[in-house]
Amino acid sequence: MRHGLERIGCAFLSFLLLATIGHAGHDFENRDLVAGQVIYAEHCAVCHGAELEGQPDWQTPDENGVLPAPPHDASGHTWHHSNAQLFEYTKLGGQGVADKLGLKSFASGMPAYDGVLSDEQIWEVLAFIASTWPARQAEIQASRNPPH
Ligand code: HEC
Repeated sequence: MRHGLERIGCAFLSFLLLATIGHAGHDFENRDLVAGQVIYAEHCAVCHGAELEGQPDWQTPDENGVLPAPPHDASGHTWHHSNAQLFEYTKLGGQGVADKLGLKSFASGMPAYDGVLSDEQIWEVLAFIASTWPARQAEIQASRNPPH
């Protein structure tokens, strides 16, 4: 009996999980990945690394409290965030997001791309980054997007 209930619970959970993945954001779909790769090389690689590897010791802030650029590959935490969060971070920059959240003491090394890249170009570069993630990271990231 107990065993049966657990099985039902488990099936329900898998259903929920599938439902979330099914409703995941579609912002990365049908983007020009080649254009995204070019934008990445021109604008992002200098800090986030040509191979998306990030800067050395990226978890240790420098003497001014500014963090180095994190990797965008599976070893970083970019894939922990929803599409909307990644878009906003790229468009407004670290300082812009901190200001919006009222975090006064946060110093960020992440520039704002508002006015530098169009919204379409920001989605293209993020779609390129996402296209490099292994299946596991891609699925977890997709599940971070709210149903819509
Ligand atoms: C001048 C260096 C620099 C450049 C150029 C740069 N970044 Fe960043 N980026 C950072 C730093 C440093 C962080 C770490 C977060 C912080 O301290 O605000 C970051 C964080 C991020 C994050 C958040 C990642 C996370 O897991 O929280 C995203 C997304 C991001 N960058 C995307 C981009 C994209 C896309 C480009 C190119 C269009 C780019 N960055 C160019 C320095 C840079």
